[in-house]
Order: sequence, then structure tokens, then C-alpha cells
Amino acid sequence: VAPLKVGIAGLGTVGAEVVRLIETQARVLAGRSGRGIRVVAVTARSKAKKRGIDLRGVEWVRDPLALATHPGIDCFVELMGGAGDPALSAVEAALNAGKSVVTANKALLAKHGIKLAKAAEKHGGALNFEAAVGAAIPVIKTLREGLAGTGINRVYGILNGTCNYILTRMEQEGLSFAECLKDAQRLGYAEANPSFDVDGHDTAQKLAILASLAFGTKVAQGAVYVEGISSIAPEDLRAAADLGYRVKLLGVAVRTAKGIEQRVHPTMVPKTSSIAQVMGVTNAVTIDGEGIPPITLVGPGAGGAATASAVVADIADVARGIRANPFGRPIAHLRDTRKAPMERH
Ligand code: HSE
Repeated sequence: VAPLKVGIAGLGTVGAEVVRLIETQARVLAGRSGRGIRVVAVTARSKAKKRGIDLRGVEWVRDPLALATHPGIDCFVELMGGAGDPALSAVEAALNAGKSVVTANKALLAKHGIKLAKAAEKHGGALNFEAAVGAAIPVIKTLREGLAGTGINRVYGILNGTCNYILTRMEQEGLSFAECLKDAQRLGYAEANPSFDVDGHDTAQKLAILASLAFGTKVAQGAVYVEGISSIAPEDLRAAADLGYRVKLLGVAVRTAKGIEQRVHPTMVPKTSSIAQVMGVTNAVTIDGEGIPPITLVGPGAGGAATASAVVADIADVARGIRANPFGRPIAHLRDTRKAPMERH
């Protein structure tokens, strides 16, 4: 079988790691996928930047759109980020050209997920986005495939590594919010604009994607109630600790009689609970399925290596010829919880 020919747009921390993994794991990937995977073309803002990867024999393409429709590639890997262009038009062009797309871009999916899924379905390509939520944690596959036969009542968890890292270090070391954020940026966890992390929008995007898969709703970031962690100080965490609690930024999507509700906000969790044990950049997602005890997935939620791991898994799925309908058909009512009062569930 001919190898899968891959084009990568964006060679930041994640993109460079994807190139490295495809090379170092070539034998494992070929064994698992039944065919080779080869990076044949790339595009990135700077050609001169030192990335420590071998790009000999790889074509440099002038812009993302040209790469997306390049006749020499089967699979377009979008790692530029951002809900608008160039990512949006490049992903659309690749799908309309019948190519498969792998992306880590939660902002893009939270805004245009259904439209892109339709394009994928119409033209026969795959649209895979395991890396968009929980980085290396296979939560998309768990919802879309592993639990495809199970009704789901609630999905919740810690979905932003940067916030959990900040809250952990503030609590354990008494450091200021600003200091912790700086370290999260240095370690490559934070978004290019870190207010997406600390104001809760990154969590909201991921929650909207999970809710869509779990409940069969439109992906609707705009319907999520969002509150971030930027006004939390070490004293607040100490006060919570004195009462036996820890503060976590949670994303919660739940089925109610009024429809599916989605919320993101800092939450006091008892120190003895399992979610309180999730520290640092780690993410955790709990899925309450009908008739079965909750399933919790825990693992690295941000960073180049963890994100690249999921991107490469998605590329391997394309190589295997797996064509899942990315979001399914909307079947459940979504409640607009942007300004809804808090209710207990
Ligand atoms: N900025 C994100 C986070 C990256 O901190 O979780 C992974 O999506």
C-alpha cells in the first residue's frame, strides 16, 4: 500500500513534535496502520527558525491554502490555531478537495465544527480532532467510539492545563497568579493569547466539543456560561483549604429537563474527592453514562509532546481508512446557559 502523504501547516511546538514523532515512531505507526506515513510538505510563518527537526526532502509550500489543496497530499494537518483565517479557509479547502483533515484547533471546531463536519461528510474525507480536547487523553475517541452505544447524562472535568497548573502552584507555593501564568507560558501550555485560558474560553470551547459528541447537540461555544480564574488570589485558595476544599476550574455539561446545559466556572471541590487530586497541567474528564458507573480519564492536557501524541494518533486513523462522521446528527436540545442562574445537579 502507498504511504499516506501528509502536509502540515504550522510548525510551532506541536507541529515540530508531530514531524519528529512520525519519523521516530515510523515502524510502530506502519505496523499499527498497515501503511507508512510520510510528511511530504509543510508551511509555517518562518522557514529560518531552528526547530531541531529534519525537513530534508520535504517541500516548503508558500501558504496554508496552497498546502491544503496540494495535489501531492492526502491528509492536511492544521496546527496554526485560531477560529478564523487562515485556518478556517485552509481546512474548508482541504475538505472540499476530498482530503482528510487532522486538527488540534478547538477554537475553530467550537465555532465551525458542524459546517466542517458536513464538508467532510460530503466529500468523503475524515475530520479528526483528538488533540483539540485533553491533548493526549483519548476523550474524543472514548465518546465517539468507545461509548457510542451508551446514553450520557453528564460530562465534566478539568479541561485547561494552564489554569490547573496556575491553581496548583498558587495553592502549593503561595505564588502570585502572574508568576504562575508566566511559567505556564514558558512551558508551552498556554494559548498564544493566555486570556483564552485564564478567562475560561478555552475550557468552554473544549466543553462545547465534548457536549456535542456526548449528547448530539450543535457545537455551540456561545451557549456556555463562562467564568475564569483571573481574579483568584492565593488567599482565596488558602481560605478554601481551611474549609477542606480546593478550587478547580471545571467545565460541566449536563442533561436536564430543559435541555443540555453547559457551564465553566471555578468550583470548590472537597480535598478528599478524586478531582481534587488532579494537579498541575493534568486534565481529567468524567463521563456519566446511563446504567454504568462514571468513567474518568486522567492525563496530560497540554504541551507539545502530549498534543502531538493525539495528532499522530489521528493521522494513523486516516492512514487506516477510518471515516467517522465527526459530530453525528444533532438530536438533543441545547439550552442557552450563558446567563442562566446556577442550579445544582
Ligand atoms: N492552553 C491549553 C491548556 C492547551 O492549557 O489546556 C491545550 O489545549
